[in-house]
Amino acid sequence: MNLAYAIFVLFVSIVVYVFHANRKARRLPPGPWQLPIVGYLPWIDPEKPHESLTKLARIYGPVCGFHMGSVYTVILSDPQIIKQTFAKDALSSRAPLYLTHGIMKGYGLVCAEGERWKDQRKFVSNCLRNFGMVKHEGPKRERLEKRISDLADECVSMLKRRGADEPIDPLDTLHHCMGNLINSIVFGKTYEEEEQVWKWLRHLQEEGVKQIGVAGPLNFLPFLRFLPRYGRTIQSIVGGKEKTHEVYRQILVEHRARTRESENTDKVDSFLAAFDEQMRKRNASESGFFTEPQLYHLLADLYGAGVDTTLTTLRWFLLFMAAYPAEQEKLQLEMDLYLKGAQLTLEDRIAMPRLEAAIAEVQRIRSVTPLGFPRGTSEDIQIGDYDVPRGAMIVPMQWAIHTDSAYWQDPLEFQPDRFLTDDGSFFKPESFLPFQSGKRVCVGEELARMILFLFAGRILHAFAISVPPNEVVDLEGECGITLVPKPHRLTFVPRTSTKDANCDSRY
Ligand code: HEM
Repeated sequence: MNLAYAIFVLFVSIVVYVFHANRKARRLPPGPWQLPIVGYLPWIDPEKPHESLTKLARIYGPVCGFHMGSVYTVILSDPQIIKQTFAKDALSSRAPLYLTHGIMKGYGLVCAEGERWKDQRKFVSNCLRNFGMVKHEGPKRERLEKRISDLADECVSMLKRRGADEPIDPLDTLHHCMGNLINSIVFGKTYEEEEQVWKWLRHLQEEGVKQIGVAGPLNFLPFLRFLPRYGRTIQSIVGGKEKTHEVYRQILVEHRARTRESENTDKVDSFLAAFDEQMRKRNASESGFFTEPQLYHLLADLYGAGVDTTLTTLRWFLLFMAAYPAEQEKLQLEMDLYLKGAQLTLEDRIAMPRLEAAIAEVQRIRSVTPLGFPRGTSEDIQIGDYDVPRGAMIVPMQWAIHTDSAYWQDPLEFQPDRFLTDDGSFFKPESFLPFQSGKRVCVGEELARMILFLFAGRILHAFAISVPPNEVVDLEGECGITLVPKPHRLTFVPRTSTKDANCDSRY
């Protein structure tokens, strides 16, 4: 027994020694001590990974390296280093994770790499511009604004009905309206709240997110897939993906029937319609990446990336407004003074910097993706003074940066004013990175900013929002794939200023 123990200790010591000698020889980034096979994983709190990794970043500095199971990981917590590093071609890949690579098989956009990523990223950016995701006014942007505003107004009406008598958890209402907005942009259709297909799609999405959470360790310890529990989880994720694609196939069939009937092919206002048009125009030999499997994966990526992020940000926004009534009143005062009862539009962004500042502050203090969205190195590279090997996972630590007192005064305080200049206009500090940066920066950033402005503004213009008496508001949330608020209830009291107002004049 003693001999076995001694051999074990010797083995661990040799592995640790070799690891550290290797780290020095290759100038690997500094990092913590770790175990063979599992690396630093046992020290990461599964409930609060963003806090565990932020502690490491504070100890080892802006570039810190260690193993998470089989994946060599570098966490970055300096905005300048992230910007410089993420601008490199060698960082345009995604992290080499078992689940993303094994299940998505390189399709779609979020996990695509190389030529497919370039081609599909261009397609998606062009579509978004054609749908109106542009900074300047014009007919296309007006059409997109109307699509967003209509659903924001529907959301206000539903909250009015549902919150008339008692406090409510706004999640279902917000999910239905935000989901339908993204449905309209991605699939070209919307659903009634109780429609079976819509309920089924939401169920599949929620189950998928849950199962991916359960299967998380597989990303770093792929041999776990041989255990029955993880084997079943993988089957369930793949099954969910196939069922979702089956629904998309039906939507495609309906879309084709509609376009044939109307013979109207000019109105291409959804990703599905634009992609189908490309498939029709190209013959089989030159279809390139425009194939049906790519279409279904791309639609799922756009829906997933578009709904979860905007919905969660909006939920945090309403929760912080309820928790900080003085900030809420300042915003409502700004709207009442400027809008004089008219409806909020995108044109008002310049004139109402406080609303943009409050949304930005929510994105800072509760980063929806606190560990950012990791990238992968496609070749050996240098980050700062360190060597980082090919196949590493690079984590842009949004949480560490957004809560660092080196960049933000009193970072744990909710202070929208930090996003306002002395003359009161909105500005984005260098260390504000909710959409990240570089070649793979969020492709929907401008769309997200439009959606958040119109939804948050119209809801806040319509209601005084508060925490019900005797209920405690939790502002910590829970961390899965994204950092989401825990279930909560809010009171939505219609504001009289918006009832009286129906003129459209501004000063
Ligand atoms: C508050 C809202 C949003 C946040 C915080 C957010 C954040 C992010 C982040 C951090 C990334 C990773 C970027 C990188 O790798 O550097 C990303 C990528 C992406 N986002 Fe967003 N996003 C939001 C809304 C949207 C919307 C509305 C869409 C819909 C079109 C969207 C579509 C995408 C796609 C397709 C990617 C993958 C891009 C690529 O890999 O080339 N996002 N987003």
